[in-house]
Amino acid sequence: MTPFSQRYGPWAVVAGASEGLGAAFAKGLARRGLSVLLVARRVDKLQGLADELRGLGVQAQVLAVDLSHPTAAEHVLTAAQPLDVGLLVFNAALAPRGRFLELSVQEQCAALELNGGTLLALTHGLAQRMAAAKRGGVVLMSSLTAFQGSPFLATYGATKSFILSLAEALWFELGPVGVDVLGVCAGATRTPNFERSAPNGAPGLLEPEQVVEEALAALGTRPLLIPGGFNRAASFALRRLISRRAAVRIMGQEGQKLLPPRVD
Ligand SMILES: NC(=O)c1ccc[n+]([C@@H]2O[C@H](COP(=O)([O-])OP(=O)(O)OC[C@H]3O[C@@H](n4cnc5c(N)ncnc54)[C@H](OP(=O)(O)O)[C@@H]3O)[C@@H](O)[C@H]2O)c1
Repeated sequence: MTPFSQRYGPWAVVAGASEGLGAAFAKGLARRGLSVLLVARRVDKLQGLADELRGLGVQAQVLAVDLSHPTAAEHVLTAAQPLDVGLLVFNAALAPRGRFLELSVQEQCAALELNGGTLLALTHGLAQRMAAAKRGGVVLMSSLTAFQGSPFLATYGATKSFILSLAEALWFELGPVGVDVLGVCAGATRTPNFERSAPNGAPGLLEPEQVVEEALAALGTRPLLIPGGFNRAASFALRRLISRRAAVRIMGQEGQKLLPPRVD
């Protein structure tokens, strides 16, 4: 057993584990000796990853579920019931990109449900069990979009502000009962999702493994992590050196560059 697996094992739940950051979290946890319940929609990808994790000497289970469905958290909690879960990583997110009025309400409400409702319900259910055991950890993936309005990612950005605020509050509430909570405000990270939406890359682009290593090292030491030196500096400038209005304008101008051209 590693000190990490004693503190946060023997099982972790990774929501949104089939690729990118979620898969990197699962591998990082397996390397630290944790068994992992892998949750996402694409079962073939989850099964491939589960085989890889078993090769690292831990157990792995897969659960295919659409986390934007209102009953999704219940399904995950039921699957996790027989497991001694000491860590939740909530990585999945829906990020509808586009002009607010042109995106469908349904798509934006699905993002609210997954990034908000499901994240809240799963955190509540698993943290209750961890608090009873007086040990555990919760990693909630937020984003640099959490710190100000993010035009053309408006609903996604608002959900990430919710996640950041929730993580900070729970860090204070749950720390004394033995449950460490960390909000991770990631910047651009080379995941398949990111590469689809921003094929030209972005300044300060990080590999998923770096984000995961920084996050797992930070858990239990602070409420909030911004991975990567470039992101920390950029975030400091946006939050402290210019007005909030100017920060929103910069986010808007950058967001606009990633929109498809208007067909009028
Ligand atoms: N990549 C970045 O640049 C970046 C920047 C800032 C913050 N973040 C945050 O980091 C996290 C991961 O980033 P990412 O978006 O690049 O994703 P990712 O880790 O590459 O993958 C997203 C994961 O979520 C799962 N997922 C998506 N919708 C789902 C649904 N409805 N039900 C179940 N699972 C679902 C996907 O699996 P299936 O498709 O198989 O369901 C996939 O495993 C997100 O919370 C994101 O906000 C990322």
